[in-house]
Amino acid sequence: MAFKSWLNHSATVMLFLICWGDCNGLTVDPPADLSVFDNGRLGYLDITWSPPSSLRYRTDCTTVYQLEYFNTYRGSWSTLRTGRRTYSAQFDLMKDIRVRVYTLLSGSCTNNSLLMSNYTEWIQKPPSTGVTGTEVHNFTCVYHNMEYVECKWRKDPKTLASAKLNLYFWHSGLDQAVECPQYIVSDGVRSGCYFTGKSLPEFTNINFCVNGSSQKPLFTLLQIQNHVKPAAADNLYVQICSDMQLEVHWESPGRVPIHCLEWEVEHIIDGKTPLIYTSDKTRVTLPSITTKERSCFRVRSKLHKYCADTGFWSEWSHPTCDPDITTSFCNLLSGSPAAITKPY
Ligand SMILES: *[C@@H]1O[C@H](CO)[C@@H](O)[C@H](O)[C@H]1NC(C)=O
Ligand SMILES: *[C@@H]1O[C@H](CO)[C@@H](O)[C@H](O)[C@H]1NC(C)=O
Ligand SMILES: *[C@@H]1O[C@H](CO)[C@@H](O)[C@H](O)[C@H]1NC(C)=O
Ligand SMILES: *[C@@H]1O[C@H](CO)[C@@H](O)[C@H](O)[C@H]1NC(C)=O
Repeated sequence: MAFKSWLNHSATVMLFLICWGDCNGLTVDPPADLSVFDNGRLGYLDITWSPPSSLRYRTDCTTVYQLEYFNTYRGSWSTLRTGRRTYSAQFDLMKDIRVRVYTLLSGSCTNNSLLMSNYTEWIQKPPSTGVTGTEVHNFTCVYHNMEYVECKWRKDPKTLASAKLNLYFWHSGLDQAVECPQYIVSDGVRSGCYFTGKSLPEFTNINFCVNGSSQKPLFTLLQIQNHVKPAAADNLYVQICSDMQLEVHWESPGRVPIHCLEWEVEHIIDGKTPLIYTSDKTRVTLPSITTKERSCFRVRSKLHKYCADTGFWSEWSHPTCDPDITTSFCNLLSGSPAAITKPY
């Protein structure tokens, strides 16, 4: 019987086969040589392991592995199965790294049932260099008008004035982390990094590290399309169309696709709480001005939720105020919906 010959063959191998009582209970060892290492990609780590030594020369078993790692971005374990002995995943190097791998055996050697080992585990604490709390603060990146990216930070007051800060970044298009191409310096201290043109890809995780000789490194990850700050709108016109309606229209000068923008139109009447209207087009039809007081309009924009998860408001446009509000015949879009008002 295949089962019996396998038993004899493996009898000398510790832990591979353990007979419990009625001899139907098989066990398999966890994988060996689990290691998690950093190939200079700032948190995108490589995980490798080997088959348990008891399995190395067996051909009647199908071996796959179950990998579990604690995903600190989601706050839960991620689980997957693979026939390979290597896997790469993103980790936050400022938190504990926890990885577990199990051996799963099937085929004639287990009488065609699936046999799962206990796990072998890798636990790694964050690097202990530098004093906790000396990381840079308020790390933010802004993708200005989808033309260039500026990442900025503030130095912790506890770090020495002479401490030199470095920024490194990595994304899947790079073999290894590279240093900031152009630092932003304020008061003689590096306070940010400038990335020209399309030097950072969109819709890709980019890992950043800000470190220095005497401080704890900061690691963070982001996708730049979620950090867009559109350019301020131009050429804002306000026309009174009738006693009932006025029309506000403007131009979007930036590189952000127009269908990706949502707008806020602010109507400021002297001494009163401004009214805010929203629009997903570059024009709105609003109730006409009924007051004798000075009236101004201005607009700003942000990426629509269909195009990005988050983003920054643009600066407000220059306001267009009373003397420049013209009375004219407006070619009102039929059915153009009145915007929703929402006071501050
Ligand atoms: C293998 O499976 C068959 C069918 O389920 C069962 O009858 C047999 O006893 C099993 N053999 C062993 C060694 O567990
Ligand atoms: C499984 O492995 C872990 C870590 O090696 C160990 O702490 C645990 O006691 C093991 N469980 C069993 C049932 O052997
Ligand atoms: C830095 O971040 C803290 C807390 O997140 C916040 O209160 C503070 O206003 C920020 N400072 C700057 C200059 O953005
Ligand atoms: C900062 O991080 C980079 C990339 O990981 C590394 O090469 C460099 O040695 C670090 N510098 C310091 C001062 O820790």
